[in-house]
Amino acid sequence: MDKFLITGGRPLHGRVVTSGAKNAALPALTAALLTDERVVLHNIPRVRDISTLRSLLEDLGVDSSVTHEAHGNCIEIETRQLLNPVAPYELVKQMRASILVLGPLVARFGHARVSLPGGCAIGVRPVNLHLKGLEKLGATISFDHGYVDARANGLHGADFYFDTISVTGTENLMMAATLADGVTVLENAAREPEVQDLADLLNKMGANIEGAGTHKICIRGVSRLHGAEHSIIPDRIEAGTFLTAAAITGGELAVELCNPAHLTAVIAKLEGVGVQVVRDAGNGTSGGHTLTVKAGGKLRALDVTTQEYPGFPTDMQAQYMTLMTQAEGSSVITETIFENRFMHALELARMGADITMNGRRAVVRGKTQLSGAKIQASDLRASASLVLAGLAAEGETLIDRVYHIDRGYERIEEKLTRVGAKITRVSESD
Ligand code: EPZ
Repeated sequence: MDKFLITGGRPLHGRVVTSGAKNAALPALTAALLTDERVVLHNIPRVRDISTLRSLLEDLGVDSSVTHEAHGNCIEIETRQLLNPVAPYELVKQMRASILVLGPLVARFGHARVSLPGGCAIGVRPVNLHLKGLEKLGATISFDHGYVDARANGLHGADFYFDTISVTGTENLMMAATLADGVTVLENAAREPEVQDLADLLNKMGANIEGAGTHKICIRGVSRLHGAEHSIIPDRIEAGTFLTAAAITGGELAVELCNPAHLTAVIAKLEGVGVQVVRDAGNGTSGGHTLTVKAGGKLRALDVTTQEYPGFPTDMQAQYMTLMTQAEGSSVITETIFENRFMHALELARMGADITMNGRRAVVRGKTQLSGAKIQASDLRASASLVLAGLAAEGETLIDRVYHIDRGYERIEEKLTRVGAKITRVSESD
């Protein structure tokens, strides 16, 4: 398994370009199952989860091709027919987002068998709302041998209320409803930018969706969808991670091709702790929007509570906790979305951080000098927070199991090296 070797204490300086959003690209790829025509997707990030999903689509009998573009990959998909409607355990256990094939397969082909994703490091991760919603749309759901089996002779419109806001739950039902007979209204839907981006793609494919980005989404079913071309939105979590990396190393970093409107809560927090964040719309070397962090002063401790969008994102909580170890004073971090998302705290403590946890609340007492150590990544965003810790620590940090980070960050060590970090990938074979 690959490791990262980091020598800390070097402020980041320069410009880094944001990749396409993994969590927008994944549902966009499964949306292509809804039509027999070609769907062309640009700005796809070169990350492991995308490769995993492409393998799953190939298993289903779907042809896809990849071309390297100036920024990200272009993936073209045609689902003319289906070899089999099964998403196997071997692939689903690698990536929970495989559940996103369920809605499109049932809607277009009337049948799907998807291995239950099971839990992961950050929580139980149930899919009950995905299944209850599909039943409301007319699917028959059964379970056997660890698989969920969903069948329908055509779906019909329905009203569905999410008693917990679910991003992929909203995406699955929105996709399924596009081909249902009649009108579907999703209440208490997720408002994440990735949900909005999916709705934009589906509407380009001929769907009739209104209200994406609000808690009430109305989908008027149509008989079929056609092909489309679409560019994936920038990855707000990757951008937020780089902004935080600049803040924790006391550097000055321009994060290009991001969308500041998707980062309001993160920007507000960084400014609150004493970091200057400048918005330069469209003057980055690569076009698009640029956010520039100017850090270097003292960091102030500031509490944070994770919330659904547009609140402070749970996917930035681990990175923020690392930042708070370098702030003067005590900060309370409350994680409201997942029940076990403090795994990174244990590794940070081994580096010298002073963190006390109690259920979904962690208290960080700063400022503590972090010292380099051998540590282990546990999940995607936790591993990002450990990279930040290594950048801030005195001495060398060796992070094991960085395959977690490769799932959602495109060659992060190369991007960080280009802006002054001392980080190298140590492969097993080395
Ligand atoms: C999406 O996961 C993201 N993944 C996650 O990003 C992100 O952390 C999460 O949304 C929250 O923003 C993708 O988009 C591929 P949820 P998702 O359904 O959809 C409960 C990353 O790092 N729930 O919004 O699986 C659930 O237990 C990943 O890129 C149910 O109870 O999350 C949780 O407490 C990690 N029943 C809450 O809802 C359900 O049927 C939010 O989960 C579904 C969810």
